[in-house]
Amino acid sequence: MNWKNVKLFSAAVIGASAIMTATTGTGVFAQGTSTSTVFNWSREAVSHIDMNENNTAPVIQMEDLEEMAPEYHVWDTWPLQDRNGNLAVVNGYKIIFALTVPSDVIPGKRHDTAGIRYFYSKDGQSWKVGGLLFNDGQALGSRQWAGSAIVDKNGKLHIFYTATGRKNETHLTYEQRLATATAEIKTTDASVTFANWSDHKVILEPDGQYYQTQEQAGQGESSYAFRDPYFFQDPKTGEEYLLFEANSAGSLAQRTCQPEHPNTDLTEESKSYNGSIGVAKAVNDNLTEFQILPPVLEANCVNEELERPGMIVKGNRYYLFTKTHHEKFALGLDAPEGLYGFTSASLMGGYQPLNGSGLVIANPQDNPYQAYSWMVMPNGTVISFVNYVDVDGQNIHEIGEQSPDYQREHFGGMLAPSLHLSITGDQTKVVHEKKQGVFH
Ligand code: FRU
Repeated sequence: MNWKNVKLFSAAVIGASAIMTATTGTGVFAQGTSTSTVFNWSREAVSHIDMNENNTAPVIQMEDLEEMAPEYHVWDTWPLQDRNGNLAVVNGYKIIFALTVPSDVIPGKRHDTAGIRYFYSKDGQSWKVGGLLFNDGQALGSRQWAGSAIVDKNGKLHIFYTATGRKNETHLTYEQRLATATAEIKTTDASVTFANWSDHKVILEPDGQYYQTQEQAGQGESSYAFRDPYFFQDPKTGEEYLLFEANSAGSLAQRTCQPEHPNTDLTEESKSYNGSIGVAKAVNDNLTEFQILPPVLEANCVNEELERPGMIVKGNRYYLFTKTHHEKFALGLDAPEGLYGFTSASLMGGYQPLNGSGLVIANPQDNPYQAYSWMVMPNGTVISFVNYVDVDGQNIHEIGEQSPDYQREHFGGMLAPSLHLSITGDQTKVVHEKKQGVFH
């Protein structure tokens, strides 16, 4: 079973209301006495998706690629960044982090035992395996999912990650909390290591008012998310934030879809699609206390998983990116596995889909699962990992039913060739392919 399709059978709790009126693509989010306007990615925008040469990635030829760590499956990857989001350089080294498991694990099962490993490089292209980042048993969760990392004001590593499940749990659970820790970065001529780890601390949990708790997700909702923290410092104000993937609060019974699904029989089913991109503001210098704020974007009745959000600033505009799967769109929407993006003149709202629909990079039609988890760097370089290639027209569920050997053979589990994306106003274009593993 796909972990994202695990049904949660706990009783629904009546929480705050996330009441949607999506006629203009803007949801009115009422909470307590305050009401804020949150942009809702609309069915209308998604229905304008058009795959073309500006947004379709070149086909990946996996046999031409090299694995930086053949002994591991490597997927969601992020670099050590400075406060402007650029690739940081520490004593001549660039450092990246990735979710990994040993390569004998069945790819579809990798999320259950994921751990963060780090890699370092002097040329920013050929990466050496550093090892498990948290190797002293202190990391929170029964496994760790995606995050982001910055160099702290005092030169330390500051990592944010998803603590999934609970340490030593006997049954795998899907609880997701955002956690952080810091460490000193030690370099020699030959290596990078981390020392003097701080305690690991949970910094954010779903509040049930803006962001759905697991209890609210209850029966009938097919996916649950409160994960993938992304550090962002607003260059306009100097304020520091975490973006994260979440679901709009409330139980299924409390939601409505306006306008209705064109096939009104399906309106009821569209209600379970409640992906959102959350934000929280740092309220102390150590980045250990955050104030949870209303989401910057919701996809109510449209999409149920807006993964690994990221943000860059270009000119006077904010660019918010996220990635999602074909099957995470509500019924009747046909959208590719891809990178999607939105832009606004203000950080907290007013986002409009890039290119009219939101689609920024799609996998090509004849290799629809070739890459995933794209991350856009401020200079327009986009990294991702090789997911499933040459799958003979099968969909992701059918791939999951294939033998472990088939899955291992067709799963890349390595960095993909990077892409260069040009961004002008609300339009983007895939300009060309770059070398594999290049972040700058
Ligand atoms: C994206 C993702 C992330 C999550 C991780 C779990 O590929 O689903 O949202 O942190 O994979 O492995």
